[in-house]
Amino acid sequence: MKEKLTEFTICPMTEADLEGVLAIESNSFPNPWNRAHFLDELRSSYAFPLVTLGPEGGVIGYICPMLLLDEGHILDVAVHKDFRGYGLGKLLVERVIAECREGGADFVSLEVRPSNHAAIALYRKLGFKETGRRKRYYENGEDAIMMEYIFKEDREERDAV
Ligand SMILES: CC(C)(COP(=O)(O)OP(=O)(O)OC[C@H]1O[C@@H](n2cnc3c(N)ncnc32)[C@H](O)[C@@H]1OP(=O)(O)O)[C@@H](O)C(=O)NCCC(=O)NCCS
Repeated sequence: MKEKLTEFTICPMTEADLEGVLAIESNSFPNPWNRAHFLDELRSSYAFPLVTLGPEGGVIGYICPMLLLDEGHILDVAVHKDFRGYGLGKLLVERVIAECREGGADFVSLEVRPSNHAAIALYRKLGFKETGRRKRYYENGEDAIMMEYIFKEDREERDAV
């Protein structure tokens, strides 16, 4: 990890953040989400999209999770290219894990491209485990690796105390 970034905050995404979010999204994915996708997340009662704001108040990262009954899911996460490697992606995913745990989720799931080594390393580091593959899930025919972070073990450990 690079030297620590200290001046940033993580807060709920609002419509005012979308310009910054869309700029990062289009620089991060071959098939980026558009404004309507993000507006759907902002309006959904199950979604709780978050942004990371940098030292000057601009968007430098974001994550789009949802929590529906006992299932947490991460649909989208990205960090601005200039701010990668500072631990911000890890903080965003950790925040979602914490919120899903508090909200009573049994697990948090996500899909990732097998070629996305940075994201896979991040998820593994946080305790996500591979649970299967979705064949030809992405637009270029690439499979998706399905991963899950499971709270059950945490809960069993707590209950045993
Ligand atoms: C994946 C992504 C969000 C990671 O964000 P980040 O802020 O750079 O990641 P962090 O600095 O928090 O890294 C945390 C850990 O992830 C892993 N990691 C992050 N980038 C990595 C890289 N380029 N290569 C290998 N491992 C990497 C490391 O284990 C790292 O821990 P360490 O620094 O102690 O070694 C960022 O690379 C990104 O925005 N990518 C484009 C969008 C994307 O692919 N999103 C995921 C879709 S599934």
